[in-house]
Amino acid sequence: MATYRKFVFVCTGSDCKRNGCKSFLKEVKNLVKMDSHKGKYKIVKTKCMDFCKSGPIAVYNNEVIKNGSIEELRGKF
Ligand code: FES
Repeated sequence: MATYRKFVFVCTGSDCKRNGCKSFLKEVKNLVKMDSHKGKYKIVKTKCMDFCKSGPIAVYNNEVIKNGSIEELRGKF
């Protein structure tokens, strides 16, 4: 049976792309791959989530992480 995983949504819409979502996505991937987090999280790439001005953005646990702040996301894990 599949184990329960938490979702991390990362916007890859055009405005976030312009604001550097690719490198942010890489950072999120590295964070999720860390030994203590392995297999617990699932990254989902999304289209625009209507926070374009604060991109790149991620949504985790119903909270929006703005400006590609990996530290903020790390604090919530
Ligand atoms: S393009 Fe990412 S929120 Fe709009």
